[in-house]
Amino acid sequence: MKIEKIVILTGAGISAESGIKTFRDADGLWENHAIEEVASPEGFKRNPKLVYEFYNARRSQLNSPEVKPNKGHQELTRLINEFHGEVTLITQNIDDLHERSGLSTKDVWHMHGELQKMRCQKTQRIFNAPNSFDEETECPCCQELGNLRPHIVWFGEMPFYLDEAFEKLTDCDLFLSIGTSGLVYPAAQFVAMTPQTCRRIEVNLNETQVSNQFDECRVGPAGVVLPILVEEVLKA
Ligand code: APR
Repeated sequence: MKIEKIVILTGAGISAESGIKTFRDADGLWENHAIEEVASPEGFKRNPKLVYEFYNARRSQLNSPEVKPNKGHQELTRLINEFHGEVTLITQNIDDLHERSGLSTKDVWHMHGELQKMRCQKTQRIFNAPNSFDEETECPCCQELGNLRPHIVWFGEMPFYLDEAFEKLTDCDLFLSIGTSGLVYPAAQFVAMTPQTCRRIEVNLNETQVSNQFDECRVGPAGVVLPILVEEVLKA
């Protein structure tokens, strides 16, 4: 079958080889915090200071010199640049490592938001985030304190790009799911939305809860599996 349209879903596993910790590999804790504590509107309401500090620390880690895109990101960039047809990249990751590997911002659909951005809760306007911000930071649009929040989709909130993603998923020939546990909806059900004729390939260190919905599971680190897989797709 000739491949014309590809949809790629990436998760924390693709950035693991860049030194960014995944969410669930260590007992459901994310950098020693319960995920709900730092990734829910209730957690933010309960302890905004902790949540600001948490994302400031993540941003500072992301901007440290040792964090760079890895082979997995680079190979997906190569695929997007060299493939003759259409490639849609949807990521659950809030880091900007796909962009830093050479993709333009419009090529990366951050369904769970972006660490390098902040949002005014009053006007919903989005701004580039400084290294650090909190309830004492004046909002660039309304000049008030306490309105800015991380531009991150927390549990219970609606992910971004869903309509666009559904449209691409229901009309693709190849679906690649890379480095995601398949535990968080709606991304976990993307595979089930692809058409019968679509080839579905999962790339992960191990089998996941949704592996049985794929035609093929390639087990191994994304940085090792993707160079081979991308080469195959470009030659197909
Ligand atoms: N190569 C490929 N896969 C890997 C690698 C690697 N080098 N390292 C880890 N993995 C796999 C793990 O086996 C696991 O299945 O990546 C997956 C990471 O799973 P999670 O930590 O659950 O991350 P993700 O699936 O992206 O989480 C989804 O949950 O809390 C939310 O919003 C957050 O976007 C996040 C969402």
